[in-house]
Amino acid sequence: MSSEARRLDDPAAIKRGDPYDARHVLADFPRQCRTAAGLRPVPAPPAARPPVVVAAGMGGSAAGGDVVAACGAERLPVPIVVHRGYGLPPVASGRAMVVASSYSGGTAEVLSAVDVAVERRLAIVAITSGGALRERAARHGIPTVLLPAGLMPRMALGYLLFPAIAALRAAGLEVAGESEVAEALDVVETLATALVPERPAADNEAKRLALAIGDRLPAVYGGPTTGAIAYRWKTDVEENAKAFALSGVLPEMNHNTIEAWRAPGAGQMHLVLLREQDEPPAIARRFTVTRELIGDAAGGVSECWARGRGRLARLLSLAYMGQWTSYYLALLRGVDPWTVPLLDELKRRVGVEGASDGVLD
Ligand code: PA5
Repeated sequence: MSSEARRLDDPAAIKRGDPYDARHVLADFPRQCRTAAGLRPVPAPPAARPPVVVAAGMGGSAAGGDVVAACGAERLPVPIVVHRGYGLPPVASGRAMVVASSYSGGTAEVLSAVDVAVERRLAIVAITSGGALRERAARHGIPTVLLPAGLMPRMALGYLLFPAIAALRAAGLEVAGESEVAEALDVVETLATALVPERPAADNEAKRLALAIGDRLPAVYGGPTTGAIAYRWKTDVEENAKAFALSGVLPEMNHNTIEAWRAPGAGQMHLVLLREQDEPPAIARRFTVTRELIGDAAGGVSECWARGRGRLARLLSLAYMGQWTSYYLALLRGVDPWTVPLLDELKRRVGVEGASDGVLD
């Protein structure tokens, strides 16, 4: 066993490397999801079915919208647009529904989206643990899902995802049925026991993935529906492990990024392919051929397979695997997986003043 693997199995080393106990938050994720699945907006939002949903959020708080959009894309006759930025796009008008998510409740872009939504008299649901978003929502009588505080937003995916599913269902848009939600909850529960630090590297897929990636730069590619989760892996590596990562989607990357793998730096990258059973044959074939063409150039290749049958379980299991993998990468690289000092400093300097000045409205 390598010294790195021993480090990931050593409780004292883990405790030293994770002073804020991120591991317990991650291990508790199944309970977070179960609690979140019971949360509903108060007061209840209007039941009218919107012709378009705009999910406004940034960073970790946009991830719930990404998963909802990926689930909805396969079955809903209305689009779910994930909006990352100030204000709202013109499509958010008339009978559109806006789901405004900010875990902290203090994110300037989301506050400005809410201001514009209020101005346009749109149906809004707010998802937050407090802050200015909670205040604004109370002031305007906006249906709000109030979340428990104290987590890092990127580790609150359950809280940001399941209430959004429920809010859309109440508006007649079912991105995941009750049985699919139940399956997703079971799948993350099973996965948690397989990925926690107590489970040794020899038998822990997330530790093995982190060890395989090592010092290399992970390039994470998903398929048409798992692409959003590949992006989530990238941002988790960036925020938890404080390391660069790339993400992309098949088939699109076959039409551009694939050429970059001929560059001299390819050997310093680690290819991670997010796969699922029963991929459409054309996509499965593209994964195979992509691996054949660039696998040798990469410093290493790993495949990570989704769990479960339903779309929601599959996306959530891959996202959860990415959370743990980036957590173990942080430990291997000797950085605290919890704190994000640059991100905090940037927010402090930029502030929320003038959140709605000169924005897309
Ligand atoms: O993960 C994080 O901490 C960030 O990506 C935040 O989610 C992002 O800065 C937005 O903050 P919030 O989620 O509180 O709206």
